[in-house]
Amino acid sequence: MDHFQYRGDRLLAEDVDLGDIAARFGTPCYVYSAATLRRHYQVFDDALAGHPHLICYAVKANSNLAILGLLADLGSGFDIVSVGELERVLAAGGDPAKVVFSGVGKRADEMARALEAGIRCFNVESESELQRLNRVAGELGVIAPVSLRVNPDVDAGTHPYIATGLKENKFGIDIARAEAVYREAAALPHVAVVGADCHIGSQLTRLDPFRDAVSRMLALIDRLADQGITIRHLDVGGGLGITYRDETPPSPADYATAVRELVADRDLELLVEPGRVLVGNAGILLTRVELLKPGEHKNFAIVDAAMNDLLRPALYDAWQAIVPVDRSAGGNTRNWDVVGPVCETGDWLGRDRELSLAEGDLLAVRSAGAYGFAMASNYNSRPRPPELLVDGEAVHEVRSRETIADLMRGEQAVASLNAGLT
Ligand code: LLP
Repeated sequence: MDHFQYRGDRLLAEDVDLGDIAARFGTPCYVYSAATLRRHYQVFDDALAGHPHLICYAVKANSNLAILGLLADLGSGFDIVSVGELERVLAAGGDPAKVVFSGVGKRADEMARALEAGIRCFNVESESELQRLNRVAGELGVIAPVSLRVNPDVDAGTHPYIATGLKENKFGIDIARAEAVYREAAALPHVAVVGADCHIGSQLTRLDPFRDAVSRMLALIDRLADQGITIRHLDVGGGLGITYRDETPPSPADYATAVRELVADRDLELLVEPGRVLVGNAGILLTRVELLKPGEHKNFAIVDAAMNDLLRPALYDAWQAIVPVDRSAGGNTRNWDVVGPVCETGDWLGRDRELSLAEGDLLAVRSAGAYGFAMASNYNSRPRPPELLVDGEAVHEVRSRETIADLMRGEQAVASLNAGLT
């Protein structure tokens, strides 16, 4: 359930007409719904109630400070993958004691900053990283809390670019090696083993891969216990999918039940790292039709948003719903390819969409709250769009539109470059 619904023929974000937002802030722009976010968080949290747990929202899905702040207020922890994400969490008022640090390439300075901030745990992805963390913690005179990210070798059945739990993926420590690396960790002076972690992929629509992964992790935890290594928390990662089109992912309640059934009688805190399921359907990308270009073979609707604003269609061939803000508007009804102005054939937001369009119409690209703005770039020297957070009747501009000056910030022309040339 989200709060982008039609009232009559007009599409609203909570109580605000999207046409009013376009008039006030221009297009393209991202629009998020606070009520949807709160609801998604609450549903997830309720589903885990009764078992000790911590939700660590995956910051990479949407790292706007207002989104992080809203989740922090609800009690959320955070899964970060860089010092940049850590600083965002801290700036938004997040509790460092609820932060887990994932990622295959943590630099020493990033480790040091995270130790200084006092994060909850490092999800360590290799032996080399373990040694580096031990050294950095030793230099600072602290003990680093560690969980090994184990690659459980299960097929998540998702897009190959976002599957992470197979042997051939770069992520995690091969489950066959995990015990040896845990023993190594237990013997190091500046790290303390506290948990075990896995994340098998994103946009999963079935429960079985999660069940498989958790079962394998529990078997590992038992083998470690036999060797005197106690695991206090199991982090099962993120990855629960959402409905973009006709997918029928398990509900958070079904997901939580499946995981809880497996860990029920254990003294093991559950950590989860959901991203998409919390924010995905809490956001849309609002865009205006600039030009219509009907043709013999293809009909193109050229809109003012592009692949630099929303990369998922171009990168993953992802399908996201595109709906009119005014569904009574009578336009030219055809099968349109909704494309952006960027000079790439792959610059499309949706293909073969049956829509009734006129130039100037507003369209909403749905399910754009996760991996939307977060993956936006300035390609083609396009300023990134603003982000707006709607809460009831209020619209908060939580990031303003970039300016041309922003585009060139930090760049220098070099006047004398060709001085020696004739
Ligand atoms: N934890 C770790 C260690 C992760 O790598 C990820 C996502 C998550 C949690 C959150 O996964 P989620 O609950 O959002 O599925 N850009 C792609 C998705 C990449 C996901 C990367 N890792 C997309 O737009 O589909």
